[in-house]
Amino acid sequence: MDHPATSFQQPAYSETAQKFLARKPMLFINNEWIEAQGPTLPVEDPSTGRFIAEIADATDAEVDRAVAAARTAFDDGRWSDLPPIQRERTIHRLADLIEKYADEFAELEAIDNGKPKDVAAVSDIPGSISNMRYTAGWATKLSGETIEPMAQPRGAMHSFTRREPIGVAAQIVPWNFPLLMATQKISAALAAGCTLILKPAEQTSLTALRLADLVAEAGFPAGTINIITGNGHTAGARLVSHPDVDKVGFTGSTEVGKIINRAATDTMKRVTLELGGKSPVIILPDMDLATAAKGATSAIFYNSGQVCIAGSRLYAHRSIFDSLLENMEQAATSWQPRPSLEPGARMGPLVSREQMDRVMGYIDAGQKAGASAAIGGDAPATNGGYYVNPTILVNVKPEMSVVKEEIFGPVVVAQRFDDLDEVARAANDTSYGLGASIWTKDVSAMHKLAGEIKSGTIWGNCHSSLDAALPFGGYKQSGIGREKGREGVEAYTELKTVFIKL
Ligand code: NAI
Ligand code: MG
Repeated sequence: MDHPATSFQQPAYSETAQKFLARKPMLFINNEWIEAQGPTLPVEDPSTGRFIAEIADATDAEVDRAVAAARTAFDDGRWSDLPPIQRERTIHRLADLIEKYADEFAELEAIDNGKPKDVAAVSDIPGSISNMRYTAGWATKLSGETIEPMAQPRGAMHSFTRREPIGVAAQIVPWNFPLLMATQKISAALAAGCTLILKPAEQTSLTALRLADLVAEAGFPAGTINIITGNGHTAGARLVSHPDVDKVGFTGSTEVGKIINRAATDTMKRVTLELGGKSPVIILPDMDLATAAKGATSAIFYNSGQVCIAGSRLYAHRSIFDSLLENMEQAATSWQPRPSLEPGARMGPLVSREQMDRVMGYIDAGQKAGASAAIGGDAPATNGGYYVNPTILVNVKPEMSVVKEEIFGPVVVAQRFDDLDEVARAANDTSYGLGASIWTKDVSAMHKLAGEIKSGTIWGNCHSSLDAALPFGGYKQSGIGREKGREGVEAYTELKTVFIKL
């Protein structure tokens, strides 16, 4: 389907959204909106490339003020000492309020990030709510254990462990799933009893600011949740090196993850890092091609490929490679980029000019190195906006940057393999290890590969499926620690051993 430039018309924003966009740059500290004193940052609609609002770029003094609010709130126990059931209920109330304003959240996410509103409405927003509801339950379920000492006579000592909140958490989230990442992080910290400062990405801060509106109404004591906007290298860096912050939770690039890990070392902050990926999609010869093609295209084109677990390296068995690709080219026709508020849109633009340039730069580099585009490789003609067509690169070699590096766009590199050992080696030939999917009905091959591949999550006959109850995180340079599940909440606790002589 070819669209003329003029058809990339972003539908009008709702009145509610327009009113929200007209707000002054503010920071949310101690349950109050504070007018920002420092510089501002422009907010852009990636579907049009137009500037639509301004947010605060928090100054050092404002970051310090937010940290001080969280520190005081933690130290006096106004949140951490509450009965756990009260913490659980408060998190649920915040989830209720997101649910109440779900349509508004979906529209803001679409305007800010570029993802289709229709997708945000069935995926990001309900996902945020269900993450919060699952995680809220851990407030009343965290526990230690009674452990019998090995070198003491029975009854001589009483020994047990308990979970205590770490303290003040700084949570820095990226622009690809703004509300989803924010709610996943804050709910884990809150369930554990921590207080927090959340800093959304400078490209996509709107839904976090809308969330701040609801914090006091949900019943959080002042200072429990503080939300500040600003640049990463200034506001983000200050949070991470702040001596009154005890824990950093970060999702973003591996490059910044390394900077954060180094900065955290000085005061030995606890860190959870969820970083980049280059996740393989492995299709065995027995697989039904239509199903595999549909799965492989969704794995890379969902969210315009701006997904840490995007299936960006396709490995198809030699015997099915050509027919699989034909099926994928067919399946890709339903992933043409459209403006984010267009009803029925499935894939939007990329988040920014910077991201579009990065992605087009990778495609160019790949083609110069000898790769060719089976489909896409270009951008549609538009009057602004950061659209890139779904792209499948073939004739690629393992040493090419398009195969090795995270592109974070709608670009998959397709390669052939002959046997399981070979594809396991190829899948592991990366510095990342976040996700991998294996597509086959052969149970034995499935389990063999699942054991061989070094990756935080392995999917069988699906890709990118996530669940609030299942731990999520990376091997190798894809990160440190796990989010979601019990582990995700325990990551905001210290484990204390109590050993009493009776
Ligand atoms: P980034 O890692 O710079 O940004 C993520 C967050 O980190 C933002 O909130 C940003 O303000 C903050 N940040 C940046 N520098 C910081 C610092 N020195 N200290 C503390 N916080 C800091 O990601 P960016 O530059 O927006 O995207 C670059 C590439 O990163 C993408 O092309 C993609 O490959 C990868 N990425 C991966 C994500 C994931 O989900 N794993 C999400 C976003 C980007
Ligand atoms: Mg960056």
